[in-house]
Amino acid sequence: MNIIGSSNARVGLPIGMAVLRKGGSALDAVELAIRAVESNPLDHTVGLGGLPNLLGTVELDASIMDGSTRTAGAVGGVRRFEHPISIARRVMQDLPHAFLVGEGAERFALECGFEETDLLTAEAQEIYQRGLRDGKAGAPHASAVLRAMVGRLAMQPERASGKDAGTVNVLALDGHGHLAAGVSTSGFAWKYPGRVGDSAVIGAGNYCDNRYGAAACTGRGEMAIRAATAHSIVMYLRAGDGPDGAGRRAMEDLNDLEDPYFSAMNCVVLTPEGHHAAFSSEETAMYVFMDESSVEVQEAPRTFVRVAAGRA
Ligand code: GLY
Repeated sequence: MNIIGSSNARVGLPIGMAVLRKGGSALDAVELAIRAVESNPLDHTVGLGGLPNLLGTVELDASIMDGSTRTAGAVGGVRRFEHPISIARRVMQDLPHAFLVGEGAERFALECGFEETDLLTAEAQEIYQRGLRDGKAGAPHASAVLRAMVGRLAMQPERASGKDAGTVNVLALDGHGHLAAGVSTSGFAWKYPGRVGDSAVIGAGNYCDNRYGAAACTGRGEMAIRAATAHSIVMYLRAGDGPDGAGRRAMEDLNDLEDPYFSAMNCVVLTPEGHHAAFSSEETAMYVFMDESSVEVQEAPRTFVRVAAGRA
């Protein structure tokens, strides 16, 4: 039994591990661990307290995948619901679909009985306003404001690759040998309204197959979408690489992607044997994990792999 995640999953991992220790499923462990992160108002990259889009509206993306059946559920651009990961799971379980966006996803959430809430905290609003004040000067249209914002982010890699483009990843292996993967995010801060990132795109930010392994990404979602990064990792596992080789190869694939804005990628990998690895395009990034013998959340450095620097 193992559960691993991005650093910000620390608040949820003990909850997920408790599920696994009681004989619960990897899917339940992933969902409950991510719900704890979605409820953390101090995390400005996920759920409640997430930073809003360009117009000041918090839009959430999430996905979940069951490695035993390769069924998946995803939602994109969801407003006013704190737990998109749970809506994604209901999409997977209750509908003949894998992906709902916007108003349809919100309608479905209401039908499922999820409660609406205001996701924009005072702190997130203040960060948003401050950023907008700087980025908005002289740019009357939303797309121009966004270009100005992204230009500024590219100058501030710690913001571009860390807080503002953050996300939560959780992967779990249960006592029955089943894998599950989940991802949840408020996405790229100041994003163009309607932008959906890799977190909601199965194969890009999330992929899981009991036969080979599970993988998930955080960082610049557009890169993971272009390279199908999570699916690539699992396919490299299938081809015979271990988690270290598979993650490294998928990160190196990103080097060919020209990007005029910025480049940033992080991924986590978990195999059916419980071996795990994590990678980052930042030199000092960490990830977190627990196994059945863990008394507390453990932390380890991610392997640094350079991906293409933003090319103007
Ligand atoms: N990786 C999260 C996003 O790009 O929205």
